[in-house]
Amino acid sequence: MALISLHIGLRCTEYIYREAGKDILEMAKPLVFVTRVPPPQGMKLIEDSCTTRAMREDRFITREEMLEGVVGVEGILCHPPDKVDKVVLDAAGPSLKGVSTMSVGLEHIDLTECRKRGISVGYTPNVLTDATAETTVSLLLATSRRLKEAFSAVVDGGWGSWENGLYLCGKTLLESTVGIVGLGRIGLAIAKRLQPFGVKKLLYSGNSRKEWEEEVGAEFVSFERLLQESDFVIACCSINKENVGLFNKSAFSKMKKSAIFINTSRGVLVHQDDLYDALKSGTIMAAGLDVTSPEPLPRDHPLHSLKNCVITPHIGSATVYARNAMADLAARNLIAGLKGEVLPSPVPQ
Ligand code: DGY
Repeated sequence: MALISLHIGLRCTEYIYREAGKDILEMAKPLVFVTRVPPPQGMKLIEDSCTTRAMREDRFITREEMLEGVVGVEGILCHPPDKVDKVVLDAAGPSLKGVSTMSVGLEHIDLTECRKRGISVGYTPNVLTDATAETTVSLLLATSRRLKEAFSAVVDGGWGSWENGLYLCGKTLLESTVGIVGLGRIGLAIAKRLQPFGVKKLLYSGNSRKEWEEEVGAEFVSFERLLQESDFVIACCSINKENVGLFNKSAFSKMKKSAIFINTSRGVLVHQDDLYDALKSGTIMAAGLDVTSPEPLPRDHPLHSLKNCVITPHIGSATVYARNAMADLAARNLIAGLKGEVLPSPVPQ
């Protein structure tokens, strides 16, 4: 048996030549563009059903590469921040049937335009909730317990001073008020994980009251009240046009001087110059960011110079378990979209 692959333009068709009956079995596999190769089990699912054109280098794809890569494809597997907007959809052309993003965030996809063109869109909520909640708690503890300074002290010779017993002392969650901006799936999972630390009060703000608030005894309050009363302010809401820059000078000025701000949502939620000023001037105590704008944050960005700012490289969902589950779901969304079937996890209409 011989396998001959013929590339006709941008479409790739596989022909299997069978010696026995001299029959030719033609199997046309849909062509898909993969902007960043997912973990192996997800990639295998895709490769089993599709011909793939994939970005295999370990870096973010450029806009030019995106526009070139999508030409003539039937499916796109993407991640934030790979923009799938009108221009990309036009570049792909009428063959495009499905877009699948390996993320819960959808801000990089023009959903309205996809809907108009009858292109299915799938995403990967739920499977990353626990991992993201763990990252948020880790970042909160790293920030409140000053781990950035502690790690540096070990290698920089700062280890050993006692300073009246207050050496590298941080802030405790015990008896604290925690404010969660966005009590969605991830917000709820964070709240559940923080409760055992002895949190006294849980506040949350957002567009609407959530029926699951009772699960964690959280109180729905205005954004202003949350800022004023919280010892820890955690942003884990989804991003939209209204909340870009929500955490600005005015927001930081309403927070307690001893407050700690954590962001595992999106970098654009924060006005970063205002955050720098707030941290530098002591308007707030510290910040922990898993997301920045842009990503990666340039190495010479002023936020890196602050010992009270802990930054991680957008690792919210970075557990092997979560990433495999995301890849699997994203692959199944993609394949279902190409077949015109109901997606396992379609974006809400
Ligand atoms: C998500 O799933 O949206 C994560 O932030 C990864 O980008």
